Amino acid sequence: MLTDAQLLAAAARFGTPLYVYDAAELDAALARVRTAFTDTRLFYAMKANPNLTLLARMRAAGVGFECVSAGELARAVKVGAGGSDILVNGPAKSDEEYAEGARLGATFIVDRAEEVGLLPPRSRVLVRVNPALEVSTHDHLATGAGGSKFGVPLGGVPAVLNALRAAGHDGRGLHVHIGSAIRDATDFAAAFARLSELRPAVGELEVLDVGGGWSLDADLDGIADQARRAAQVFGAQLWAEPGRYLVAGAGVLLSQVVGLKATAHEFVLLDAGMTELIRPMLYGAVHPVLPLWPRSEAALHNTGTYDLAGPACESGDVLAREVPLPRPQRGDVLALLEAGAYGAAMSSNYLTRPRPAEVLWDGEWRVIRQRESVETIWAAET
Ligand SMILES: Cc1ncc(COP(=O)(O)O)c(C=O)c1O
Repeated sequence: MLTDAQLLAAAARFGTPLYVYDAAELDAALARVRTAFTDTRLFYAMKANPNLTLLARMRAAGVGFECVSAGELARAVKVGAGGSDILVNGPAKSDEEYAEGARLGATFIVDRAEEVGLLPPRSRVLVRVNPALEVSTHDHLATGAGGSKFGVPLGGVPAVLNALRAAGHDGRGLHVHIGSAIRDATDFAAAFARLSELRPAVGELEVLDVGGGWSLDADLDGIADQARRAAQVFGAQLWAEPGRYLVAGAGVLLSQVVGLKATAHEFVLLDAGMTELIRPMLYGAVHPVLPLWPRSEAALHNTGTYDLAGPACESGDVLAREVPLPRPQRGDVLALLEAGAYGAAMSSNYLTRPRPAEVLWDGEWRVIRQRESVETIWAAET
């Protein structure tokens, strides 16, 4: 974890809003996953944070990539990944994505029966299973419910596997991903149990891919244990696709206080908001807040409970609610923690706001993404 002094130094040197990553935390997260998920092939779900420097680090550590767009496939290739390191996933793949996956020799994850006829000849394939389960996360993050757009219903899976094989594809196994930021290991256990019901109908398999979705405080050992048991049921090799867990804790968003405003609520107005970090607005994500201004005795006696609002003309542009803080002043800096996943990756140019710079601390500061400018925003416009 970077110190307050390091974070303040980064804000002073690179400006705010700023995404800051700690290489030691990235390494520690991967080590924790590898300790829990022994004998498991890891594919980083790069949607969580596709920065090329982070991808190159994953690749150097022997991690493959789960890709859901032509752009993500291009990033995997850019950092030197080959076909056996790449999964092509997604509920609505384009012709370009099928063609590029085939050219690379990647493994496809099919999401519906119709894909059997769309795959390039002799593809390596897993079938994504929809286990029809409600899980303990925000609705927008749940992907395993029966009504969601993802996966093949349990009962349809044997037929899809048979059709794949009849069409000359290498139907290697099954895939399941029930959602993101899931805390409760019993949700995973329930999903794996549903999959195991397929054993009599589908026989032994080469691969069982259990997706990702682990929240930072999830019981990784418990989930890994259940996953291993499910893989054993099929005599399969275990694959996993963590995104959030590998990067969330290593990243923070630094933002500067622009002012204070009291209405029915006490607001701290920030220079970062929904355009830099949309997770609180999109699915009620809670990011711990670390104030980086001097917390003298006097300041500690002058604490309030604040809503942290961004600069957008949107009432929902609030990054955190009811946060107890010593009273800040304009120019003070705070850190929104656990922002390394789906933070920078989901930032936008709404309101012609240049996306923030991203920097990595690895014994020294490295700018791993330049701050955008207005010119880079309108470069493609006429
Ligand atoms: C198929 C699939 N695998 C893996 C992930 C990674 O999830 P997480 O970042 O929660 O680990 C996602 C996220 O949406 C996904 O859709």
